[in-house]
Amino acid sequence: EKGTYPHFMLKEIDEQPFVIRRIIQEYQDENDNIKLDPEVREAMKDHDRVYIIACGTSYHAGLVGKQFIEKLAQVPVEVHVASEFSYNMPLLSEKPLFIFISQSGETADSRAVLVEIKQKGYKALTITNVPGSTLSREADYTLHLHAGPEIAVASTKAYTAQMAVLAILAVDTAQAKGLQLEFNPLSELGIAANAMEALTDQKEQLEDIARTYLSTTRNCFFIGRSIDYYVGLEGALKLKEISYIQAEGFAGGELKHGTIALIEEGTPVMALATQENVNYSIRGNVKEVAARGANPCVISMKGLDQESDAFVIPHVHELLTPLVSVVPYQLISYYAALHRDCDVDKPRNLAKSVTVE
Ligand code: M6R
Repeated sequence: EKGTYPHFMLKEIDEQPFVIRRIIQEYQDENDNIKLDPEVREAMKDHDRVYIIACGTSYHAGLVGKQFIEKLAQVPVEVHVASEFSYNMPLLSEKPLFIFISQSGETADSRAVLVEIKQKGYKALTITNVPGSTLSREADYTLHLHAGPEIAVASTKAYTAQMAVLAILAVDTAQAKGLQLEFNPLSELGIAANAMEALTDQKEQLEDIARTYLSTTRNCFFIGRSIDYYVGLEGALKLKEISYIQAEGFAGGELKHGTIALIEEGTPVMALATQENVNYSIRGNVKEVAARGANPCVISMKGLDQESDAFVIPHVHELLTPLVSVVPYQLISYYAALHRDCDVDKPRNLAKSVTVE
């Protein structure tokens, strides 16, 4: 039920801090250590390469998950869009482990890959919000997102839950391999949950941004570097699917290789600046697009912020910024769709779970 909320999407955006706290509880033992299915831990340790398979928003969570698993657990990861995987199946490693990320657990494109790799005898882990779903039943192992039912077609709380569970999985794998880490995912996720909550209280400011930048525009670009690029892809998907504004995410460094030709007078460009090592370069991209007439909207993280930034998110661990930086994008997309009289929860031509290939 929506309760007092006008839309499920808004309710689900607001639920995110609570979902992250629930995940912390569910994946924590009585000594505050990670609690995870020992079979999953063994599988992560025993395989030499992880292949993440997903679609849409879940694919975007997978891109961030690759960073977690590679940086923290030192296991190589490839991320593939399910529908493309079979046509261009990569040369697999000796002991591949497949991870299917799917909110619904019913996505046909992902299932087709699961059936194929099971036939070849490979092991699969499904990360899903619906433990009894097809992808969960047909895989060897399941990790549950604990996000509660997600009703709006635009995925929000499942995305942040997916990244939280992937962070926990990455650290658990690192520990299983005996790697020493400074990073405690459970406490850092707690900090991220508080930051998310602070943002859901800043709706008016984000509604203003949507009004200023997006009420009449035909298109909008999202730029970022490193992990911010992946969040830009997700921001663009959110905006396009519910507001029908043509939105694309670009890597900051790619602008000069072609995409900057799209910038016209007044084109809104959303830029994310949450990573210290690329802050200087992304700021350079913002200047480049502004010099060509764009209307840049910079969302930065506290500590890296500048006077002219449109919005500043609280400081969180640099690996976990996507959980927080996506929230302004979700809310900006929501308000943009609302201002354009779109059906926020049920956008045209889309279904909540895509059960055909
Ligand atoms: O249920 P799944 O996570 O497998 O769904 C994958 C995509 O269909 C889904 O994320 C879709 O892109 C959303 N509408 C995005 O908001």
